[in-house]
Amino acid sequence: MLNKYYPHLGSPIQIGKLTFKNRIVNSPMAPPDFGPDSALTHYNMAYYDRRAEGGVALVTVSEGIVHMQTGRSHTKQLDLANPLTRPSLADTARMIHNHDCYASVELSHGGKYAGNRTQDESGKSAVRYGPIDEVLANGAVIHEMPEDLIFEIADSFAKAASFVKSAGFDMVMIHSAHGWLLHQFLSPSMNTRKDKWGGPSIENRMRFPLLVVDRIRAAVGPGFPIEYRMSGAECTDGGYDVDAAVEVAKALDGKVDLIHVSAGVHEDHDAFVITHPSMFVPHGSNVHLAAEIKKHVSTPVATVGGLNDPDDMEEIIASGKADIVEIARQLLVDPDTPQKALSGRKDDITKCCRCFTCFEELLNNRVSRCALNPVIGREFDRQFAFRDTAKKRVLIAGGGPGGMAAALSARARGHEVILFEKGKRLGGQLLSEEFVPFKEDLYAYAVQQERRVKESGAQVRTETALTPEIVAELAPDAMILALGAVPIVPNIPGIDGPNVVGLEALHEKTPAVGQKVVILGGGLVGTETAVYLDLLGRDVTVVEMRDDFAVDAAEMHKTGLELMLRKSRVTMQLRTRAKAVTDAGLLCIGPDGSEILFEADTILVAAGMRSNNELVSELRYAAPRVLAVGDCFKVGKVVDATYSGHYSILDI
Ligand SMILES: Cc1cc2nc3c(=O)[nH]c(=O)nc-3n(C[C@H](O)[C@H](O)[C@H](O)COP(=O)(O)O)c2cc1C
Repeated sequence: MLNKYYPHLGSPIQIGKLTFKNRIVNSPMAPPDFGPDSALTHYNMAYYDRRAEGGVALVTVSEGIVHMQTGRSHTKQLDLANPLTRPSLADTARMIHNHDCYASVELSHGGKYAGNRTQDESGKSAVRYGPIDEVLANGAVIHEMPEDLIFEIADSFAKAASFVKSAGFDMVMIHSAHGWLLHQFLSPSMNTRKDKWGGPSIENRMRFPLLVVDRIRAAVGPGFPIEYRMSGAECTDGGYDVDAAVEVAKALDGKVDLIHVSAGVHEDHDAFVITHPSMFVPHGSNVHLAAEIKKHVSTPVATVGGLNDPDDMEEIIASGKADIVEIARQLLVDPDTPQKALSGRKDDITKCCRCFTCFEELLNNRVSRCALNPVIGREFDRQFAFRDTAKKRVLIAGGGPGGMAAALSARARGHEVILFEKGKRLGGQLLSEEFVPFKEDLYAYAVQQERRVKESGAQVRTETALTPEIVAELAPDAMILALGAVPIVPNIPGIDGPNVVGLEALHEKTPAVGQKVVILGGGLVGTETAVYLDLLGRDVTVVEMRDDFAVDAAEMHKTGLELMLRKSRVTMQLRTRAKAVTDAGLLCIGPDGSEILFEADTILVAAGMRSNNELVSELRYAAPRVLAVGDCFKVGKVVDATYSGHYSILDI
């Protein structure tokens, strides 16, 4: 379903394995100071939470420093090598997710500007490193970064990416713009090294940034989106121009998932107001840089700078100048800009006047303030006050754990709720636990939630899928989409044969599988299924591509599972790839590259799930406020569905 106000701006886009719900992204903005251990405070979390609530597809938390010993340039920076930051990161990611919004972290290093604005001894880099030996205008002595430190810092980028991924973030942004370390290496005026890491050759100057990309990719794996933030031109004397930026983008093409084109170098005053366009230049003054780069790459390209009007943003996407618009200051003034634009309320958007109050306050007092929005920086207080509590009509599509949590939360706030479930009963995937002995409590929870929903006064319409026609008839104020996920079916010969079943085979008291079962996929679900079928006396082999099983399980749960496996007769076949299903079983390529046939009566596919994006996009704009929760937002666990379902209601 197209957005009727802004069909291009409102359309989804694939970035790595994520589907963004629209084309508007929150460009990174450091919030007020982090806590003493460089972790996010509750005020910081609420700041990001508020940006996500306003309807952007992605919020990027900034600015994460990957190597505090040498990279910290100011106090508003997260220590990504410190385990003490993890709880605040994990909570922030989840808060952002609760708004049907993805979460990213900007990975950065200050290079020769490390220590410039830390203003206290504790944060100062003892020794500062940049591309070359030099003395800065402020007297800071910079050392040429030795090669072993280049590798160490590239590794610290990778470690930081893994760290934030494991804390629940969906994506990372590499900061290679505005004059920080990776930009310094790209710059012909700043990087005049004589070795293979610099000098006149752009290949040499790109070597370190590309090393960082490669190391991060190796750490996070394929599909996990990497955004690369670069200046599309340095806009300084002797700085690189857009033609050189095109060469950099071409080298990144296919290696990263989003090329984010900003401009300028912050340590140059004149260029600072190009990076953050002042009120004296036209809106979108940097879009031409993204448009030029986009001509040369197939990776999606984002533009940023001075955008505050959805009409302009729509034109940028519609005309193909960029695939995504990123906005920063506009979301301080009016975090609800995307939601207002996409629900036909553009006249109610308060526009950023580019007065720089935000920056003035940030740099001088290290607080967040906006001339036109008194709530900025106080979002934490707002979380408990000033909420709209008018009664609304809420339709919920899907009666799994997320849909049920949303229904209960909406009823608790006094809304009228109508829940649609295409199956006969509420419970979603939890219903498949009915006959699994070790899942009895989870199944009991599903039954209990169903009862609670019915007793709450919500209307429940089972055996009814929510369609755009029904939505049009009921004219809701808001909709929660809890449409779940669909199984991933590997595209191999024979997969549609009569001896292949999906997880629905477990929905019967006696599973519809033969005596010899091969489970294709040894993630959490495949492994649990193996243990269950073993308890039922079946002969089970699990085939898994990776070198470990149940990698998506909670650690303690995995320990319990492992004990069960040890007691079982299950054969776990790791580093093995399915090639074809035959009448005799599953033909695979083993760890040594040779073919192995695992004989089976039944092949049970447990190769993972993917979000039900098609159904989400069919209903995305059917009501003024629509939020996707649970697996149809991002495939996860019961906890993810429960949280996003429960908290989504606060947005309506
Ligand atoms: C208060 C504030 C803080 C910012 N902090 C960061 C940051 O931490 N990292 C970064 O890459 N850019 C940062 N930026 C730059 C923005 O991401 C953006 O590129 C710039 O503001 C231009 O976009 P705009 O005109 O939409 O504000 C910041 C901007 C503002 C206004």
